Amino acid sequence: MKEEKIPTHVGIIMDGNGRWATMRGLKRSAGHKAGFNTLKTLATHILNSGVKVLSIFAFSTENFSRSKEEVDYLMDLFVTGVKTLKKEFSKYNIKVIFSGRSKPLPDKVLKEMKKVEAYTENNTNGIFNICLNYGGKAEIVDTAKKIAKLVKEGKLNIEDI
Ligand code: FPP
Repeated sequence: MKEEKIPTHVGIIMDGNGRWATMRGLKRSAGHKAGFNTLKTLATHILNSGVKVLSIFAFSTENFSRSKEEVDYLMDLFVTGVKTLKKEFSKYNIKVIFSGRSKPLPDKVLKEMKKVEAYTENNTNGIFNICLNYGGKAEIVDTAKKIAKLVKEGKLNIEDI
């Protein structure tokens, strides 16, 4: 029989929520709500199947340039959605963490993020890593700044980069 190999880390990029809703004559927000519900089912299934880390790319820095209505809806969904993750993922002993920049996420979102991280911090069955306000350009800029600082402080040689 073929050996079953379970990956250690799985990454998912959320896409198509808006198209899913438009095809059904619904508002884009309905697609995000349905996408979030599917994400929860999928995440518990993946992390209960032996995968150690699930990274979900939920919202990029570029996504802030969407319409105010859509961004506002998503920020509210993050608040209510993150609240539901607390108990649900603790039930499965899963730790929830967030990756990304904090600015300009609203305080109400940051508050719930911190709460769920603290609540699930000692859970050991897997890690649900939610990438919120992440971005390729932002990461390159942050890294370039760190390197420049180390070079300026004499802690890194340019040749060693
Ligand atoms: C991509 O679909 C989806 C997003 C940019 C947002 C997804 C985020 C959520 C559903 C909320 C998740 C919440 C938590 C707490 C993790 P799209 O809008 O780019 O779809 P399209 O390509 O059809 O336009």
